[in-house]
Amino acid sequence: MNKYLQNNLSMWNEWATLHAKSEFYDVEGFKKGRCTLNDLEFDEVGDVTGKSLLHLMCHFGMDTMSWARRGAKVTGIDFSDKAVEIARNLSNETGIKADFVCSDIYDLPKNLKGKFDIVYTSAGILCWLPDLKGWAGVIAQFLKSGGFFYILEGHPFLNMLYTESPEAKSPEILNSYFHSSAPEEYQNQMSYAGVKTEKIHTGDEWSHSLGDIINALISAGLKIEFLHEYPKLFFKAMPYMVQDEKGYWRIPGDKLPLIFTLKAAKC
Ligand SMILES: C[S@@+](CC[C@H](N)C(=O)[O-])C[C@H]1O[C@@H](n2cnc3c(N)ncnc32)[C@H](O)[C@@H]1O
Repeated sequence: MNKYLQNNLSMWNEWATLHAKSEFYDVEGFKKGRCTLNDLEFDEVGDVTGKSLLHLMCHFGMDTMSWARRGAKVTGIDFSDKAVEIARNLSNETGIKADFVCSDIYDLPKNLKGKFDIVYTSAGILCWLPDLKGWAGVIAQFLKSGGFFYILEGHPFLNMLYTESPEAKSPEILNSYFHSSAPEEYQNQMSYAGVKTEKIHTGDEWSHSLGDIINALISAGLKIEFLHEYPKLFFKAMPYMVQDEKGYWRIPGDKLPLIFTLKAAKC
């Protein structure tokens, strides 16, 4: 594992432990039946009853198990051993049937066998990936013919605006839209879920343009069925965002894309 992945793993292990106790993730609510998926995912993925679903980069598995509650046979994978341990404990405690595999996404073909009807991933994953061609190859490899890939993710446009500065008052282009092989390095002591870590962690992140994402999936042999863009987000990324009645975060005026969703089929 290279130093970037090691930095990120050390950060994600501490974040996973703290997130499982955080208000943001509300694990107690999940145990009582709260569904962690959103309306876009339900409408766009459709009925999952009886389908096998592989969730890539699943954190500690609440989204994975929410799909299981809707009838899917689920497998979640994540490189954080802490996240996977918490996910397995939660599965045992709630009685929700789910398999969890600890693996770096690029090593998954060595650590998991089988093919799936649906490969799913969401909410805060692409910035941790140095190489989208390798990522798309893993997706294609684990899909059955006739199966599909679905992603709901922060829009690449959002990366340009992202700032944790409390002084930020309105959208400003602060970061490049385009990919660079060298990551952006951030010093983090606060996670997006509002938890403070003991250690200051170095996080290494990569930008990817919408073109890079789509072309990686096309190169892996997948057929794009739709790409949707929305002016709302699943967390408060900038201090000037406001929350709507459904819990999404918006930039007043709704003029910029903040989420994209994409479905691609394996023929
Ligand atoms: C923002 S979380 C996913 C969010 C998920 N939708 C949620 O809120 O529960 C990103 C996840 O990616 C995992 N991750 C980061 N880099 C990875 C890699 N190279 N291979 C596998 N998992 C990775 C992290 O451990 C973390 O659990």
